[in-house]
Amino acid sequence: MFDKFSHRHLTSISQLSKSDIQTIFKKAENFLDGNVLKTAQSDVLKEKTVVLAFFENSTRTRLSFEIAAQRLGANIVQFQANASSVAKGESLTDTLATIEAMNVDFFVMRHSVSGAAEFLKDYAKSSIINAGDGQHEHPTQALLDGFTLQNIFKNLEGKKICIIGDILHSRVARSNISLLKTLGAEIALCAPKTLLPNDISEWNCEVFKTSDEAVEWADAVNVLRLQKERMESGLLPSLGEFSKYYGISMRHVLQKPDLVILHPGPVNYGVEIQYDVANCENSYIRQQVTNGVAIRMAILELLSENF
Ligand code: NCD
Repeated sequence: MFDKFSHRHLTSISQLSKSDIQTIFKKAENFLDGNVLKTAQSDVLKEKTVVLAFFENSTRTRLSFEIAAQRLGANIVQFQANASSVAKGESLTDTLATIEAMNVDFFVMRHSVSGAAEFLKDYAKSSIINAGDGQHEHPTQALLDGFTLQNIFKNLEGKKICIIGDILHSRVARSNISLLKTLGAEIALCAPKTLLPNDISEWNCEVFKTSDEAVEWADAVNVLRLQKERMESGLLPSLGEFSKYYGISMRHVLQKPDLVILHPGPVNYGVEIQYDVANCENSYIRQQVTNGVAIRMAILELLSENF
């Protein structure tokens, strides 16, 4: 039914066809029992080594990859960037070549530079998985978001999904737009002008000026944190105003009782989303985390078939 998944690396959503995405979703489904992750171990990655190289902070993505690799029977090695020779000036390519000389199979990397994973791919003997590169892409996050939405709506064709918040600094937004459009969804954005990229007109997405308008239009919203670590000062007049015009609160759930709410985390309660909304029945934030492990298991297994 689907074309063969023929990739050796996963660095960007743009490399995946609709058929590839559905192959990943179908495989991920096997690791779930309804909405719950199965705990059964398999040995498809027995004798394979997965290096987790996170040059930037992470809680859920790193742990999710670690649990996914563990469930598939892989050996897992944590690379501590700030305690490594990178701190002594070793280049990224030398770091990869050094680690690969120890005969590893996967290099799962998060890096603050946009394009870092794409760049390393050309030098790699191992399989490179992009776990987030600067403001560029976060393909496994988009896959788990799309998987969560498809499980809710069954089919994303024509579904209206609005991404709200700090789009400018968000790799999640870029990967989400690409993936959800491939699956046939209609995408809109909602952010102050200063948190939208300059080339926004090329993205071909409607832009809403308030979260009230966005919710009026949308079947689902994907809410993003203000990524202050990548922000120049002066992009926002005040947090209070951002929260008032772009935040999601209980009034939006009252406005649209079947609104689906996603957030990739980490959440800053009271800024982009209120605590009670993030924890209400319309919110799928914890389900996203569960699905993230299943999606990463699927990716690891599918990529390993092309070594
Ligand atoms: C996102 C990231 O790191 O890009 N988080 C994640 O991986 N779940 C979003 C963010 O940091 O705001």
